Amino acid sequence: MNAFGVNNNGTLISHGGIFYTKMIDILATFLNPRAYFEIGTDAGVSLKAMKCASVAVDPQFRLAENVIGSKPSLHMFQMPSDDFFRDHSPIDYLRRPIELAFLDGMHRFEYLLRDFSNTERYCGKNSIILLHDCLPTTTEMISRVHTRGAWAGDVWKILPALRKYRPDLQITYLDCPPTGLVAITNLDPDSSTILDGYFSIVREFIEVDGKALKEFYSRLALTKSADLQSHEEITKLFWL
Ligand SMILES: C[S@@+](CC[C@H](N)C(=O)[O-])C[C@H]1O[C@@H](n2cnc3c(N)ncnc32)[C@H](O)[C@@H]1O
Repeated sequence: MNAFGVNNNGTLISHGGIFYTKMIDILATFLNPRAYFEIGTDAGVSLKAMKCASVAVDPQFRLAENVIGSKPSLHMFQMPSDDFFRDHSPIDYLRRPIELAFLDGMHRFEYLLRDFSNTERYCGKNSIILLHDCLPTTTEMISRVHTRGAWAGDVWKILPALRKYRPDLQITYLDCPPTGLVAITNLDPDSSTILDGYFSIVREFIEVDGKALKEFYSRLALTKSADLQSHEEITKLFWL
């Protein structure tokens, strides 16, 4: 490791923990959420495991299997998340605030910033918002435009942005392959900090590069997902 925590083989960070979809499944099993909200469903791997009332948003679903399973209800909106939030409220379909959310839509910082803020408005304080792809393992995968290979985009920038502008949030950084899983709680559905400061926050972070990511990693305390596999350990951090 060098001063930035970068391995000599070019890997910025290693995720040796539980695969992200398995970790979401474990969290849902122990926390038993009553209302699930997902942005970015694709084939439905993450959605399939949920057993509660669910809302899923994706401009192009590519479902490969039965995703309703034992859910009492599932509402699917084939549209970009911005269109969804313009025209719909998740609570109208879930009949209660979102308890667990998974944000895995467009891999650009400004999209995730909007998805996070819009989702938080429909959560409770103890609800959990999970973010995918925010702990990328190489600088090659963080370009804003997907050309080839694994792509996490620049959604990682939401982490320093939230750290700076929303220090009230409780954020857990999990070492889930392939690109981390970030769990955010102590939410404030009435907070307008991000949306009020949206344009200046985007301006501040949009141009930062891989050097800033390396600096962020050098001060990051990753939580081992393998240690979060029991009711006792999970409920130290999260409860619904
Ligand atoms: C990586 S895939 C999601 C995978 C899924 N969550 C899983 O774990 O199996 C990303 C998805 O985001 C969707 N997407 C892209 N832009 C979006 C947007 N503006 N709003 C919502 N979803 C979007 C894509 O259509 C794609 O299906």
